[in-house]
Amino acid sequence: MKFEHIIFDFDSTLVGVEGIDVLAEVTLNKSKNRDGILASIKQLTTDAMSGKIAFDLALQKRISYLETDSEMIAQAAAVVFQNISPSVIKNADFFATNSKRILIVSGGFEELIWPVADKLGIPREQVYANKFIYKGTKISGVDISRWTSKAKGKYQLLKSLELKGKIAVVGDGITDIEMKEYAPEHVITFAYTEHIARPEAIKRADYVVRSVDDLTGYLQTSVLLCENINDHARKLFEAEGYRVKSLDYAPDEHELMLLIADIDILGIRSRTHITQAIIDVAPHLSHILAYCVGTDQIDFAACERKHIHISHVQYASSRSVAEIVVGSIIALARRVPTAIVSSQKGAWNKSATQSHEVRGMTVGIVGYGTIGTQVGAIAEAIGMRVLAYDLRERPTQGHVELCETLEEVLSKSDFVTLHVDGRHENKNLISTKEIAQMKQGSYLLNYSRGPVVNLDALDDALKCGKIAGAALDVYPDEPTKNGAFDFPFAQYDNVILTPHIGGSTEEAQSRIAQEVTSRCIRYMKE
Ligand SMILES: NC(=O)c1ccc[n+]([C@@H]2O[C@H](COP(=O)([O-])OP(=O)(O)OC[C@H]3O[C@@H](n4cnc5c(N)ncnc54)[C@H](O)[C@@H]3O)[C@@H](O)[C@H]2O)c1
Repeated sequence: MKFEHIIFDFDSTLVGVEGIDVLAEVTLNKSKNRDGILASIKQLTTDAMSGKIAFDLALQKRISYLETDSEMIAQAAAVVFQNISPSVIKNADFFATNSKRILIVSGGFEELIWPVADKLGIPREQVYANKFIYKGTKISGVDISRWTSKAKGKYQLLKSLELKGKIAVVGDGITDIEMKEYAPEHVITFAYTEHIARPEAIKRADYVVRSVDDLTGYLQTSVLLCENINDHARKLFEAEGYRVKSLDYAPDEHELMLLIADIDILGIRSRTHITQAIIDVAPHLSHILAYCVGTDQIDFAACERKHIHISHVQYASSRSVAEIVVGSIIALARRVPTAIVSSQKGAWNKSATQSHEVRGMTVGIVGYGTIGTQVGAIAEAIGMRVLAYDLRERPTQGHVELCETLEEVLSKSDFVTLHVDGRHENKNLISTKEIAQMKQGSYLLNYSRGPVVNLDALDDALKCGKIAGAALDVYPDEPTKNGAFDFPFAQYDNVILTPHIGGSTEEAQSRIAQEVTSRCIRYMKE
């Protein structure tokens, strides 16, 4: 979880003692009723921490038992300093690195806290605590103008600070956990149990942590990467200190709802569907990173309501898709799929019949966007005539000829290749009627989105020879994991079937991982 501010309690959290108890021990050393007074003070501390007695009342009562002077305070501060929590010492780097966003909010006394804050590199102005009032060198009371001296003082103090963004509150007492009431959605509370486990605090806190080791796990930004996203992404996030969990498949809605609770950044590709139900149970999610081009698998309206940023790539894989498309056009023209199938069966079938060069043939591009444009450029470079049709007015490259209608591009092309986006209206964009408009014996390629082609209509057209061959990389119902898949058209030797690998080259995936991850990290930093 990513927090803009981390508030630490002091006594029994950053240190393993209660400052006032230490002070009492030091100052009451010579008193005859020492044990009785000590016990009363300890009882008051416990009662205040568990909410049984108002904090300011307990504080005034405890101070009234003492007759302390400045020298005793120095002695007490030295004892407190010696009792810095072991896990705090162990994680000194964490405090140094995060000192700007750490605040110490304590019902203890700043004179006892400052030496520890100095040691941890937390500026004294980020320490909010009580202050003794002196008469000469003797303590005469507590500065009651400070919020921390009052009942519900920590909560009031937090209100007065008007901190922006997410806040983590870490402490052993109920007064720490109560700070959640300031802004339940933005304040996350951690009951801290390295020294003492207070049942009330544990019951009401969002999380329970045994030490700073436990805590840092939660305070790191958590990333979940699904669908075998290139490892480059994990390495970039980890280099920034983010906690990354990777899955090599697309989790379904139920599994993602279980996984998402403490995730800040979710990385997906095209097969993980992000629904309203998932967003509803993702209190910390701030970014969805689509390591792919299409984003129609994400419920944008649900994300917008929760101010979740969505990021995707526009160009990083387009070259890979364009190359495989032109490769498939050549393979279909040369009847390579048929040759592969018969060769695998042990037949030597050398023949030029119905095998053609693509130079001089016409390719029609439906959806002349990022990928369509590159397909056009490569196809033209190998001597093909290129037609393109797009809903939007698009600038053309080279000698590409724009068609006015879908029918025009379909009726004039030897190869029709689809590169439209996955908007709902594009479902069945190519069906019986559109196939009827295509040239007799032409070819159809779909590397865009599965639902764009009606598979029954294509089946009919392949059976009757209207379509001479096809290349399909995308399907209406794609599996979410690698494994068995019942490919449509597997019985045809003139259909190239691939498992949505158009953009799956190491170059493209590494570029995508780099581009999307770095953009997100930059955003988080700046
Ligand atoms: N097979 C893969 O591995 C793979 C990889 C990357 C992208 N894709 C898919 O490829 C497709 C194209 O990607 P892109 O980056 O070029 O997208 P893009 O947004 O740059 O281009 C899509 C173009 O299609 C046009 N369009 C939409 N509907 C249309 C219609 N009915 N008729 C005509 N034009 C229409 C849009 O105006 C736009 O210009 C997307 O569906 C994307 O999801 C697949």
